[in-house]
Amino acid sequence: MVFDPGKGNEGVPPVSQIPPPIDIIMHLDTPVPRSRSHSLITSSSTSPLEHFAMATEFRWGIISTGWIASCFVKDLILDPKTRDTHDIVHKVASVGSRSIESAQSFIDKHAGGDKSIKAFGTYAEVYADPNVQAIYIGTPHTLHYENARDALLAGKHVLCEKATTSNAPELKALIKLAKEKNLFFMEAMWTRFQPITKEVKRASEEGNLGDPVVLHADLSGDFDVENIPKTHRILDPYLGGGAILDLGPYPMIWAVVALYEHPSNKKAYPTKITGSIIKSPLTGVDSSTSWTLNFTKTLQAQAILSASITLPAAKTGVIIRYRNGNILIDSPIYKPPSFTVQYFDKPGSGVIVREETKTVSYVGGGFCFEADEVARCVRDGKLESDTWGHDKSILLMEVFDEVRRQGDYKLPEGVEKVF
Ligand SMILES: NC(=O)c1ccc[n+]([C@@H]2O[C@H](COP(=O)([O-])OP(=O)(O)OC[C@H]3O[C@@H](n4cnc5c(N)ncnc54)[C@H](OP(=O)(O)O)[C@@H]3O)[C@@H](O)[C@H]2O)c1
Repeated sequence: MVFDPGKGNEGVPPVSQIPPPIDIIMHLDTPVPRSRSHSLITSSSTSPLEHFAMATEFRWGIISTGWIASCFVKDLILDPKTRDTHDIVHKVASVGSRSIESAQSFIDKHAGGDKSIKAFGTYAEVYADPNVQAIYIGTPHTLHYENARDALLAGKHVLCEKATTSNAPELKALIKLAKEKNLFFMEAMWTRFQPITKEVKRASEEGNLGDPVVLHADLSGDFDVENIPKTHRILDPYLGGGAILDLGPYPMIWAVVALYEHPSNKKAYPTKITGSIIKSPLTGVDSSTSWTLNFTKTLQAQAILSASITLPAAKTGVIIRYRNGNILIDSPIYKPPSFTVQYFDKPGSGVIVREETKTVSYVGGGFCFEADEVARCVRDGKLESDTWGHDKSILLMEVFDEVRRQGDYKLPEGVEKVF
């Protein structure tokens, strides 16, 4: 398997004695609040200063024991001080799997065998665990709706892997339920919370480059499809297999950051979506997919996006083009190590007179930042993140629905639960 999103957090020590990140200075987006119902490590006898110094413990229930759940948990148990986080401490309270043996071996392998973590042989027991505040869902896409719904109905906040659901109506139903129950819900769009994304945004929006005109973004991953079982989630249509739902969120996140979030766009959704799909002869899932988004309400900008399950990623995965220069983002685009800003001598000339490359590194696999966001939002009583809000997850799912419609990729009967 070449596509390896969690690469980088193997062997990272879970506790202290790790030097702070070197290349970056991170700023907390949210002030440390006064006491909240979910702040656990508090005491009425503490002075305001001591209170400020205290961290909120945030307790997670983990659903499923696959690849991405292991990446997430390895980051959860890192010492938050290694990323300059002092207001949050994560705790894995329980892990649920379809088999209790798998839950226990997951805890032993990825959470240091911590005896305080409960292993359950059903997901329902995790939803019902009174020690759990939020559920992390790492099952295949087509199960997300049912899993997230069960978690919300049990009164738990939810962080749900991408693609959040099989289609936009399922996602909207979950968001409605979360709001009704006064619970936090977020898509696990970890790239948006990585420190490098803030740096790209700064370069894009500071004004030197002008407004964005064209964005090219591709995420491809060679899944060796000829040699994996057809029941693998990337090939199985019952599990939402194919490129668009699995890899598509990453070209999309950069279109959202550079175009949708650009101040000149004023949060306008795309005015036109076009899509084209080549299906895999193996199972009929989408093998190579390309799509474009026009942002023409207030910008004159276009995103040209693609994903494939039969190719390795290109070295430069994202190019954002402006009249005054370019931003080039290095692969992998779900966790870019660096990006380069090129400045032209005059608008439209294409003559590069200055190039600046920024490299960002940190301890862990890059999932800890989204976890911090969830904990802070819940602590602060928010129902959605200001950084990756419901509007952005809905935008992604609506685009995927439309591209699948145009490319005639229908999920099998019974997979989609809401229409
Ligand atoms: N954020 C990222 O960078 C990233 C990267 C990869 C994947 N993902 C997303 O995470 C989700 C899972 O991906 P993954 O690569 O971790 O998959 P995976 O390794 O196959 O793990 C999926 C887990 O889901 C559980 N599951 C429940 N019902 C299942 C079923 N019918 N078939 C297969 N598994 C089932 C299993 O855990 P139990 O046996 O313990 O119940 C399984 O281990 C997908 O939605 C994917 O898009 C995100």
